[in-house]
Amino acid sequence: MASKSEPTIEEKQRSREQARNEGDFLKADALKAELLESHGFLVKDFADGSSELYKPTTQIVLEGPTIMNLAHSALGAATVEEVNGISAQVIDRIERLGDGFSIELSGSKPSDAMFWFGMSGCTNDMLFDVLAQKVREEIARMLLKESTREVDILRILEKVSACNVHDDDLFKSIENDLYYSHPRSLIWLFRFGSRGRNMKQFKRNVLRHVGETTSDSEDAVSESEDTASESEDNTIDYNNLFENNSLPLIIDCGCGYGTTMIGLKTGGYMYDGYNMLGVDFSENAICYANGIRTRESFNGVRFVCADIFEALEKIKDNYAGVVKAALVQFPTPFKLEGGGNTQLPEEDDGFMVSERLWNGLWEVNCEKVLVQSNVEDVFLNMVKSGCGSGYEIIDNDEKKMVGMPFDYSVGGFEGLSKKELRITSRAERWLEMGGGSGGERAKVRNEERYLPIEGLTETEANCILKGVPVFREVFRIVGSK
Ligand SMILES: C[S@@+](CC[C@H](N)C(=O)[O-])C[C@H]1O[C@@H](n2cnc3c(N)ncnc32)[C@H](O)[C@@H]1O
Repeated sequence: MASKSEPTIEEKQRSREQARNEGDFLKADALKAELLESHGFLVKDFADGSSELYKPTTQIVLEGPTIMNLAHSALGAATVEEVNGISAQVIDRIERLGDGFSIELSGSKPSDAMFWFGMSGCTNDMLFDVLAQKVREEIARMLLKESTREVDILRILEKVSACNVHDDDLFKSIENDLYYSHPRSLIWLFRFGSRGRNMKQFKRNVLRHVGETTSDSEDAVSESEDTASESEDNTIDYNNLFENNSLPLIIDCGCGYGTTMIGLKTGGYMYDGYNMLGVDFSENAICYANGIRTRESFNGVRFVCADIFEALEKIKDNYAGVVKAALVQFPTPFKLEGGGNTQLPEEDDGFMVSERLWNGLWEVNCEKVLVQSNVEDVFLNMVKSGCGSGYEIIDNDEKKMVGMPFDYSVGGFEGLSKKELRITSRAERWLEMGGGSGGERAKVRNEERYLPIEGLTETEANCILKGVPVFREVFRIVGSK
């Protein structure tokens, strides 16, 4: 029963109508959740701004796959058209469930569903809008419960942000400043990607999560692997990659989820006079990047699923403009002698930043190369191969020279990680090796970034949050080899 100071049900209904009519949806959702949780009333809104309260009758149970089942199947879909078709089914189902949507989308589920659609490269804006609304309603409900922790809400919003969805009303519900390139958003991509190395296992876990363990779904898992079975490269027209193929080009080699270019674009670093190309042979990662690129209608940005060596060949023969800069950010390390992760490629067979890569960059006359790694010996190895293959390290002043698109350094990690930088077990092993094959130290360059913080990658986000040191250098091409 309402206490004397507590507003009556009618007063709450009127306040909600007022909040809604004034566009304060966060307050309106909170009152809606309160009317349901504390008084058992659902609200029906009318176009004229009024509303009606009613008691829920029997819960609607719909036939067919649940929303979470559908979101999961989007992850295994073969084409964007298929993903968008599935997203339309989700919108329809949410509509039919009406106020009973919580049966299928309670707590963090709307954000999980959104994240899975983001990862599958969905380009249906409406799906993201509808799910954002459900996230908002669920957060309003969660905030009424004393047991809800701030971190629960934060996790939900981080996943929303990782889909590049900006909903001011949503983000108002927390004090933390979240945006697409924030390490706490990008860390979800890193986690997904790390599991994605064993995509079969990840998808099995998802199946378990949504309670689907039929042999059919197991088959679906084994059919969809992460890396492109056949390079898409032959079908890409490098003559017409961009609207204006003669602008200077920046290439992100092994771009992963393409967060650098997405972040620079959405963060207001338009680099209008440049084209930006992200290349990665992970189909999943490129699918995600292309989903956002399409939803945001970016000009001058392309992501292609291809082997970087083939891509550089094609660029050499077909791209009309100059290659201004290349980014080589956190390449998958090679195996270090004497143990460690046996899944890693051999140093001279499968490691991306071999002499072959430097030669490829040299052949396209790439002016500058930014190299970053969190693995000390890998970084030293890249410096060595770069300096032996037509490139040299630029000293500090020249790094900032005009004409380099990334011509400034911005202030390090302030406010992002209070953790002490730590030495990894691989670095320890490298130091123990000493002598000719190990022990050399690289200078840590955490404080100097050559890209704005908005250009963060998912791996660097992980380094920031874990306090892992990052090594960076900028190279320039030397006239001849
Ligand atoms: C550790 S991830 C780093 C991704 C991203 N640059 C970052 O900093 O988070 C390395 C990426 O390089 C890609 N890669 C490795 N060899 C490649 C090659 N030859 N061509 C294209 N991509 C490659 C992998 O698919 C993977 O996405």
